[in-house]
Amino acid sequence: VYKDSSSASRSVAKEIENLIKVKQAQKQPCILGLATGSSPKGLYAELVRLHKEEGLSFKNVISFNLDEYYPMEPDSVNSYVRFMQEQLFNHIDILPENCFVPDGTLPKDKIRSYCDEYEAKIEAYGGIDLQILGIGGNGHIGFNESGSLQNSKTRLVALDHITRVAASADFSGLTSTPRTAITLGVKKIMEAKRVILMAWGESKSNIIKESVEDTVTSQVPASYLQEHNNAMFILDQAAASKLT
Ligand code: F6R
Repeated sequence: VYKDSSSASRSVAKEIENLIKVKQAQKQPCILGLATGSSPKGLYAELVRLHKEEGLSFKNVISFNLDEYYPMEPDSVNSYVRFMQEQLFNHIDILPENCFVPDGTLPKDKIRSYCDEYEAKIEAYGGIDLQILGIGGNGHIGFNESGSLQNSKTRLVALDHITRVAASADFSGLTSTPRTAITLGVKKIMEAKRVILMAWGESKSNIIKESVEDTVTSQVPASYLQEHNNAMFILDQAAASKLT
């Protein structure tokens, strides 16, 4: 628990910096699982600063994003491709061919095989070294909504009403907010060697308590992380305020 989200974000950035450097020394790629949304913005700003001011290189980083709305064009203002370019990729030296975000433009009948290939690509790199997560008000991780199973695969999902309401401000209203998305499944998240979930603010405090202290349940997919052997929740004081 940190006093505020900026100091918390800096500590996560430091951990990523250390991991990248260890992998560089070993001449290995560093496989990062990345999230979008408001929670990781401070982290990405700090990674950009580490690149610009301290020369941290991302040339050995391979990134896999958690999710993308479906349907979604990559150059649309609300696409997660665009979010990642604006918040991170355009400001660091990561190679564009090493940045993977689920493709929101596929015809529906191609999605199943595409999702299998997305997972196979992660496996070909030896799995995710460090997975960054935010948490939805309903406990979703990625877009694994309430009811997602622990062994769920990467797939097309229907977004919960509460998730669509949270996103509707970006889409100027609920009717134009996507109803579906492609998400990395819970299984691949749980297979990551290290998981860091970040949450800020009072509005996340109830779901943080449920995820950390209540029973593990598919109703709150973030609660599955209790069963991960190297997962950490990084919180500000407000998000941690309901923990006993
Ligand atoms: C985004 C994602 C979502 C968000 C979650 C929290 O890639 O996977 O699970 O992390 O909805 O969003 P924010 O950070 O905007 O509160």
